Amino acid sequence: MDRPDNIYPEFERMLAKEDKETLLRQRGLVLWFYGLSGSGKSTLANALERKLHSEGFATQILDGDNIRTGLNSDLGFSDADRAENIRRIAEVAKLFLHAGMVTITAFITPANALRQTAREIVGTKDFVEVFVKCSYEKCAQRDPKGLYAQASSGNLKDFTGRESRFEEPEKPDLILDTEYDSLEACLEKLYLHILPKIRAE
Ligand code: ADX
Repeated sequence: MDRPDNIYPEFERMLAKEDKETLLRQRGLVLWFYGLSGSGKSTLANALERKLHSEGFATQILDGDNIRTGLNSDLGFSDADRAENIRRIAEVAKLFLHAGMVTITAFITPANALRQTAREIVGTKDFVEVFVKCSYEKCAQRDPKGLYAQASSGNLKDFTGRESRFEEPEKPDLILDTEYDSLEACLEKLYLHILPKIRAE
């Protein structure tokens, strides 16, 4: 998007991300979880946050259903709205990153172009793309919010994985398979992957 006229972003005078990280004794990172509704993104995000918090890391979760009832309550599930949803969330995640936080986002992010946009906004060196893998059939079996049942009876339009496409990821940094692996195993894999990235040097 072009910069609007008469807007002068202030970055030089602000304290740097590194100053905030020194105070917090950690390194900021954005963990971008994505996958179908019901795949386990929020469960994993919450479990990871609790684990990190108990070890003294400062964290922040940005989660689909929460953001969509507040900041993005004006957005629906068309392709254009999903793109705007992800753009805004990536901008918010970047703010938390610059405050030194381990920032964990949980959004379907159904297209590779959207994943790429998020990566570009946040900055690739502080961005970890985590695909939470689970088949449509298994998510439909779990159906924690009853949305799969609604979609199959034709009461929910643009449902991801049905009328609205979920693209196979191109290059996730990490894949967590919640269909076949336990929550504990996924959490351990995740933790081992990110610990070297968030620990202060
Ligand atoms: S995204 O596609 O724009 O990334 P996001 O993660 O914010 O989606 O929101 C997904 C959540 O919205 C789902 O977990 C579900 O609870 C709810 N939801 C409501 N309608 C739909 C729909 N048509 N498709 C997918 N999710 C929906």
